[in-house]
Amino acid sequence: MSQPKILLLGAPGAGKGTQSSNVVEHYGIDHVTTGDALRANKDMETEHGTPREFMEAGELVPDPVVNEIVKAALDDADGFVLDGYPRNLSQAEYLSDITDLDLVALLDVGKEELITRLTGRRMDPETGDIYHTEFNMPDDEEIRDRLVQRDDDTEETVRERLRVFDENTQPVIDHYDDADKLVRIDGEQTPEDVWEDLADAIDDAA
Ligand code: AP5
Repeated sequence: MSQPKILLLGAPGAGKGTQSSNVVEHYGIDHVTTGDALRANKDMETEHGTPREFMEAGELVPDPVVNEIVKAALDDADGFVLDGYPRNLSQAEYLSDITDLDLVALLDVGKEELITRLTGRRMDPETGDIYHTEFNMPDDEEIRDRLVQRDDDTEETVRERLRVFDENTQPVIDHYDDADKLVRIDGEQTPEDVWEDLADAIDDAA
């Protein structure tokens, strides 16, 4: 296989960012994530408003804005792990028009676990590394002191993001499942075990 083209699906907090880092490190491919791209352009004026308004409410940013970001990133990539897109059926249709995928993998995690993971998530603004207040804090005090919480990781916004996921993104999962293209991975295991299963799935798709 040339460089793999991987779609990583999962609810907010399922571990897509965590596992995408492993994929990037191991296979040397690009990480294309609409969440990070939108956070870097939160105040960009578009004819639909700024991404910030939608993100801080836990809602989806309008399709034309996101589709354009993804197309530009995929055009430039030789192999990729795509995370955070597609989020609805119309984005899934657009994606199938612009690229073929080698693997569609779902990180499966229950709702209460997702809420615990997201409300405890902290990020190092200097490196982008992801930590958790209960499960995974850095030993270095200097790093601990500079960790930040994402604006949309408050409990209220997390619950809204999960509702939006059920309404819009669950049909995307069903769509790939019905087409027999979905590989399910138990996302409630340790990050190391999740990675082992994901790497096996990628190698099997080769
Ligand atoms: P986005 O940034 O894509 O967020 P998300 O999908 O909500 O996913 P997260 O990044 O929150 O979670 P993750 O699965 O990456 O989890 P992580 O690895 O960090 O989107 C944000 C917003 O942007 C959206 O709400 C929307 O407004 C907009 N947007 C983005 N894409 C869009 C699109 N296509 N269309 C329209 N709008 C769009 O892990 C979470 C925590 O759990 C961490 O603390 C981690 O340490 C811990 N953890 C991870 N794995 C494990 C494990 N195995 N065991 C225990 N803890 C673990």
